[in-house]
Amino acid sequence: DAQSEALSDGVLTVGTNAEFPPFEYVGDDGEPDGFDIALIKAIGEKLGVEVQVENMEFDSLVASIGSKVDVSIAGMTVTEERQKSVDFSEAYYEAVQYVILPEGSEIATAADLEGKAIGVQLGTTGDFIASDDIADSKVSQYNKGMDAVNDLINGKVDCVIIDKNPALVFASKFEGQLAAVDGAEFGFEPEEYAIAMPKGDAALAEQVNAALAEIKADGTFDKLVETYIEN
Ligand code: ARG
Repeated sequence: DAQSEALSDGVLTVGTNAEFPPFEYVGDDGEPDGFDIALIKAIGEKLGVEVQVENMEFDSLVASIGSKVDVSIAGMTVTEERQKSVDFSEAYYEAVQYVILPEGSEIATAADLEGKAIGVQLGTTGDFIASDDIADSKVSQYNKGMDAVNDLINGKVDCVIIDKNPALVFASKFEGQLAAVDGAEFGFEPEEYAIAMPKGDAALAEQVNAALAEIKADGTFDKLVETYIEN
């Protein structure tokens, strides 16, 4: 088998944006933790390499792959646009955008979102929906999803569009004030998370996918879902 350049030094450098619970967040020890971090460490173990996680802005991850970092795991949705610059592993998680609303908000349908002030994390699929698909939207882009949620509490935006699981975590911090609504009710399409890798590194893709398949087959994957997501 051809050996991937990315693994030849025995270290897999991984870019993430640890502002996206439960997939990645900064743990009590100051280090990135979460489902994705545990998953990529399990993959590293299967591949016999050390995993080093770099925390960076979400918006800079794709451009960093193959230079600053070997790969990225960041609850990153597979999109055609991103596939122009990176290759994705097999998908490991199904997601959808949610809409976080103030309790009692009158926003209930796709049409209600038109012309609204919408908070998003910069460069995410939630950003693309708010900026490109919703007519006359006034989009505020934040480096951290939680900052968008804080501005929703402050009344600076009418809603926040962000992935389901972080939406549920963020809304639960403001119990009774915020509600997280399934974006399917607004016509948002399902998305899939995958690990982003340098374009054209077939050897790396093959090894990462093989490790992922083993982790799914041996029960490790389900255990991680239980520990980090369905707890
Ligand atoms: N799934 C969305 C996307 O790919 C949001 C991902 C945000 N991830 C993060 N670690 N902040 O655009």
